Amino acid sequence: MSYFRHHIFFCLNERPAGESSCARQGAQEAFEHCKARVKAEGLSGAGGVRVNKAGCLHRCAGGPVAVVYPEGTWYTYVDREDIDEIVESHLKNGRPVERLMLPPDVGR
Ligand code: FES
Repeated sequence: MSYFRHHIFFCLNERPAGESSCARQGAQEAFEHCKARVKAEGLSGAGGVRVNKAGCLHRCAGGPVAVVYPEGTWYTYVDREDIDEIVESHLKNGRPVERLMLPPDVGR
């Protein structure tokens, strides 16, 4: 059994100008919003949900990206509503959000 039920990592990396970069696509704000939502829903802590910062996750072309473990479900998102849906559906109720999943062939 995992220490956390779900562990979500947000790439907050900034790549050089001209390259796709999660940091320039709202990643910090999405990370902070996710943390706040998880806390507000009472999901944080052992046996619950952990929201962490990450460096480059090497899938920049699909950014901004986040990944949920232990499932290894990769997401891309646009706004706060997308983050709310990931929290409510996946992190709270265990139902991954198909429409926000990163296509499997997206790399750096
Ligand atoms: S900069 Fe976010 S995955 Fe590389």
